[in-house]
Amino acid sequence: MNEVRVKNTGLRGVTVADTKISFIDGEQGILLYRGYRIEELAEKSSFLEVAFLLLNGNLPDAAQLKAFEQRISEARELPDFAVGCLRQLPKNAGPMDVLQASVPFLGMSDPELADETREANVRKAVRLIARIPAVVAAWHRLRNGLEPLPPDDGLPHSANFLWQLQGKKPDAELARDLELCLLLHADHTFNASTFACREVVSTRAHMYAGVAAGVGALSGSLHGGANERVMKMLMEIESEKDIPGWVRAQLEQGQRIMGMGHAVYKAYDPRAKILKEMSRRLGEKFGETKWYELSDQVEKSALAEFEKRGKKQIHTNVDFWSASVYHMIGIPGDLMTNIFAIARIVGWCAHIIEEKFAEAQGKPALYRPTSEYVGHYCGKMGCTYEPLKQRKHAPQI
Ligand SMILES: CC(C)(COP(=O)(O)OP(=O)(O)OC[C@H]1O[C@@H](n2cnc3c(N)ncnc32)[C@H](O)[C@@H]1OP(=O)(O)O)[C@@H](O)C(=O)NCCC(=O)NCCS
Repeated sequence: MNEVRVKNTGLRGVTVADTKISFIDGEQGILLYRGYRIEELAEKSSFLEVAFLLLNGNLPDAAQLKAFEQRISEARELPDFAVGCLRQLPKNAGPMDVLQASVPFLGMSDPELADETREANVRKAVRLIARIPAVVAAWHRLRNGLEPLPPDDGLPHSANFLWQLQGKKPDAELARDLELCLLLHADHTFNASTFACREVVSTRAHMYAGVAAGVGALSGSLHGGANERVMKMLMEIESEKDIPGWVRAQLEQGQRIMGMGHAVYKAYDPRAKILKEMSRRLGEKFGETKWYELSDQVEKSALAEFEKRGKKQIHTNVDFWSASVYHMIGIPGDLMTNIFAIARIVGWCAHIIEEKFAEAQGKPALYRPTSEYVGHYCGKMGCTYEPLKQRKHAPQI
């Protein structure tokens, strides 16, 4: 094998695998799911239709979609064991920590946990897609001293989530908007969390182990955690008079503007375009346009500053515009990254199955990169081992 030496660059530009699931052209701002443009799917498909597409490779016909929706709806009920575990968690725990902890609880109560056939993995994916929203909703209620609500079989996916979260039947238009947000976040090639999932299952660990790793990776502020921070930023600067000055000061202090920049897109994120319009529309619907207007000012100021600083490649990403949208849908700031997980569970499962069954390349292979050792070295025979009593106080690294 030829040695490829790439170090400390976050693997940017390094192709580590083939995939048939999604495609990004970062220069032109293009995203395809299984070959279809995200804009067209956003206009014409439902989230579960796209989930079917990502998991199975093709868009479903009407009967297949109905059967898939039925399977998701039947799988929504959380196992008692998982709810019992949630009850034990401290009420002030971070919602992403709770979600990460809950994934193994769901795995332990899955009767097919050890069945590694493809069919069983697809069934596990269906349970995860159905239950991750139920966990988020149940946790939110428990932490507020409320009992989790049973799913409503008559409601579509995102409407049911809002019902289980908020305890009231949601406005149909808002539920559809949330559905569109989920669709836009469903997959995104080898992002950090998806790569974490694939890396973990390449060891032949089960799907739940991979997904727990994915949730952990998503929680970070440079990945899914950015949407929560965008909302925090908007709330902090709500009464700021000089937005361009605030943006300039942030950059001068070496701070990052959350929701800006992307490892792959060097153009406007196509998902952010759709969410920006949604944010504007929701602002008008609720007669509360301030979040859209504030976001717009921050965006304009940041893009102008980046350009001035020779960083024209930094554009707005999906997290920037999802923050105000989620806020207007009634999602608390600290649950915004969980919403990302409710969507991305689809991509994680699709990638885990592709990885486990080598559906895009020759055969499954364990990820195992190399590193260059640059630490203490006394030759291949090793350093002289000093017995404990003779050692001097060691300096800390
Ligand atoms: C997502 C992100 C990690 C991608 O970064 P990247 O393309 O690998 O680029 P780097 O982190 O190497 O940054 C390149 C340069 O642009 C700057 N930069 C990138 N994003 C920036 C941002 N949001 N605000 C200010 N500066 C930014 C970096 O400071 C760096 O400057 P330098 O070369 O002077 O050190 C980065 O854009 C970021 O931190 N964004 C904010 C968090 C966010 O929104 N994450 C969600 C991504 S969907």
